[in-house]
Amino acid sequence: MAFDFPFLFSLCKLPFTFGVAADAIVSTGLSKLGYHYVNIDDCWAEIARDDKGNLVPHKVKFPSGIKALADYVHSKGLKLGIYSDAGYYTCAKKMPGSLGHEEQDAKTFASWGIDYLKYDNCNTDGSKPTVRYPVMTKALMKAGRPIYFSLCEWGDMHPALWGMKVGNSWRTTNDISDNWESMVSRADQNEVYAEYARPGGWNDPDMLEVGNGGMNKSEYIVHFSIWAVSKAPLLIGCDVRNASKDTMEILGNTEVIAVNQDKLGVQAKKVRMLGDLEVWAGPLSDYRVVVLLANRSPVKDTITAHWDDIGLPADSAVTVRDLWEHKTLETKFVNNLTATIDSHSCKMYILKP
Ligand SMILES: *[C@@H]1O[C@H](CO)[C@@H](O)[C@H](O)[C@H]1NC(C)=O
Ligand SMILES: *[C@@H]1O[C@H](CO)[C@@H](O)[C@H](O)[C@H]1NC(C)=O
Ligand SMILES: *[C@@H]1O[C@H](CO)[C@@H](O)[C@H](O)[C@H]1NC(C)=O
Repeated sequence: MAFDFPFLFSLCKLPFTFGVAADAIVSTGLSKLGYHYVNIDDCWAEIARDDKGNLVPHKVKFPSGIKALADYVHSKGLKLGIYSDAGYYTCAKKMPGSLGHEEQDAKTFASWGIDYLKYDNCNTDGSKPTVRYPVMTKALMKAGRPIYFSLCEWGDMHPALWGMKVGNSWRTTNDISDNWESMVSRADQNEVYAEYARPGGWNDPDMLEVGNGGMNKSEYIVHFSIWAVSKAPLLIGCDVRNASKDTMEILGNTEVIAVNQDKLGVQAKKVRMLGDLEVWAGPLSDYRVVVLLANRSPVKDTITAHWDDIGLPADSAVTVRDLWEHKTLETKFVNNLTATIDSHSCKMYILKP
């Protein structure tokens, strides 16, 4: 498996029919682009376990249970994600966490046909994440079904340093909110750990806010572009049933998705920062390089990427593909590439020698 993209809904806020989410992912065409997981977040269970200690799906939100939902989601060619917590209660405190019940809960998830587990870090016993998370890793390995393990300890103990042995991705940051400052600060915190990401274990700067309305279109393009070059899990966080044309154009940019899914699996880094003008770059398969020129300032400006900053020989002539204009530039470029970029906007290119 390469790495798939989940789709996330919080049940604490929305009473949501997940079958409808699965239908929408298929009818919008997003599933064909690689968005395969439909993820249930907090508040999916009753507050009390049953008399055998098992988690009980919320009787109003999931009247037919989770297994029936998993069967439905699988029948659409999708996968189902669920949520728990390495503490006594989850963050919303409306259902139990898995601390002390790891094996039992992992078996329950496997028996329902769950494919993905997000594991949160609220209401714990005060012990370290490095102690509590590996217990669930072992439990999942014994449960008899491959389940993607998404660590969500918010970057508390630098999970990039130990996450590879414990899970498939790890949140490097606190929760994102739907505004520019929050988004760029998540991007920055996540970038610090670029060296630690590789196939099998990814840095996760949290879900995508694209489509939720708190940023404008070019800011959402910057958001999606940074997540893509950072090889971050692309978790759609908006209601895809009403996604606008602009939202679909961003989430559906197959050239940008292909960068995220590139088989080399190397996370791009910020190679130059001239104040608010940034050059991000990283290698792709077949000796290609992805370059992101991002203008974080309030005014239009010019940004130059120099070959010696982005890992190309200074004299190499490259063809340049603009991934948001969907155009290959007419001339070959040598030594550097310059673009004029609007405020809170970016250009994303693939350079091919
Ligand atoms: C999205 O669409 C659903 C029905 O398809 C509707 O119930 C909901 O209110 C809509 N949400 C927004 C934000 O428009
Ligand atoms: C970019 O490279 C060209 C040669 O292709 C050179 O003439 C020019 O001075 C360079 N520009 C910058 C800003 O370094
Ligand atoms: C998006 O918002 C930023 C910040 O307010 C602004 O500088 C930029 O011009 C806006 N871009 C568009 C396309 O509206």
